[in-house]
Amino acid sequence: MRMVDIIIKKKEGKKLLKEEINFFVKGFTNGTIPDYQASSLAMAICFNGMDKDEISNLTEAMLYSGDTIDLSSINGIKVDKHSTGGVGDKTSLVLGPLVASCGVKLAKMSGRGLGHTGGTLDKLESIPGVSINIERTQFIKQVNEIGIALVGQTGSLVPCDKKLYALRDVTGTVDSIPLIASSIMSKKLASGSDTILLDVKFGSGAFMKNLDDARELAKTMVEIGDSLKRDTRAILTDMDQPLGMAIGNNLEVIEACETLKGKGPKDLIELCVNAGSIMLMQAKKVSSYQEGKELIQSKLSSGEALEKLCQLVKAQGGDDKYIKDTSLFEKSKYIINIYSNKEGYIKEINALEIGEAAMKLGAGRSTKEDIIDPTAGIVLSKKVGDFVSKEEKLCEIHTNKDDYKVYIDEVIESFKFSDTKVDINPIIHEIVE
Ligand code: URA
Repeated sequence: MRMVDIIIKKKEGKKLLKEEINFFVKGFTNGTIPDYQASSLAMAICFNGMDKDEISNLTEAMLYSGDTIDLSSINGIKVDKHSTGGVGDKTSLVLGPLVASCGVKLAKMSGRGLGHTGGTLDKLESIPGVSINIERTQFIKQVNEIGIALVGQTGSLVPCDKKLYALRDVTGTVDSIPLIASSIMSKKLASGSDTILLDVKFGSGAFMKNLDDARELAKTMVEIGDSLKRDTRAILTDMDQPLGMAIGNNLEVIEACETLKGKGPKDLIELCVNAGSIMLMQAKKVSSYQEGKELIQSKLSSGEALEKLCQLVKAQGGDDKYIKDTSLFEKSKYIINIYSNKEGYIKEINALEIGEAAMKLGAGRSTKEDIIDPTAGIVLSKKVGDFVSKEEKLCEIHTNKDDYKVYIDEVIESFKFSDTKVDINPIIHEIVE
């Protein structure tokens, strides 16, 4: 078999056979197929797509390109969730302790932020002392003991995706549903959980800019999961503005803690209660959506979910006094109020634009090597639908950068106004199962 023939076949819009996909994944992972041929195939897939069989074969080949995690020594059903990436998305920090406090096991491998989107690992590491590098047996022990662990992905898990994603990032081949679906699902399936809930974001700050594309991606991933015998469901959620009020690492941890104390923003609570209810159904803890919502709400109001976050932080080497009293978190040198130069109803807070501004203030990386400032970011004072007068406060910026003034216009311009009242979209648009 020759790689060039596989590339030409896909260029001509033909269906690739399982053996051809396996040949590519194996050769690319072990280095016998060079980057230029892999990127050429990725581009052909971007233009001509893949059918169900091809996507499922690609996912399976990638899944077995390295180690897989065996969670069978953890008792009970193991649940997992994954977000396709958003701005202000601290869901795992709230949802994880919530479902674990209901007695469900979450053994989760998370990622780091890149570009305008944040990552759970960077947020966790902004809690003093917390480590995300936990040895495999300790990881299993922790989940058996306290029901939850949030750790980094080991290098040996889906090495094909590691190489391919890095290549796609620099060859304009990220935005392809077959490539995104196989990339996400191979990692989720290799992580060993029994159930997967996918939070597929759509809108200005997401990979999927519109609902139709998000639905197609969600359906594709649910089909892959189901075909490999994992209960996979997806929610389609709005990313036309950041989730909650805080963007930036320790700022988001503070918001997650406040949410678990019952003082969270409406959209974040709504997302966590509904997603949590679906995860409880997947774990067979409850038999209806309503029952799940009630159980989640009860753990939120009793403080048990907050206690679970404290247990998680302590188990991973951190100090839970920060969770109990968030005023102890380190703060940026500059905390500056930003005021509106317009009047009207906010119709969008462009998540890509404000996410990029937060990144430039120190909250994110523009290259993998950049070091994150855990205190930097933006805290919104207004959300979509709110009326704002001229000179009213829109948000605060938190930064240690002395030249922060050059980023203020970018922050202000991410707020889009309308003269007339604006309808507010529900955070969860649809459930795909
Ligand atoms: N996240 C992933 O893990 N892979 C993609 O291709 C896109 C988002």
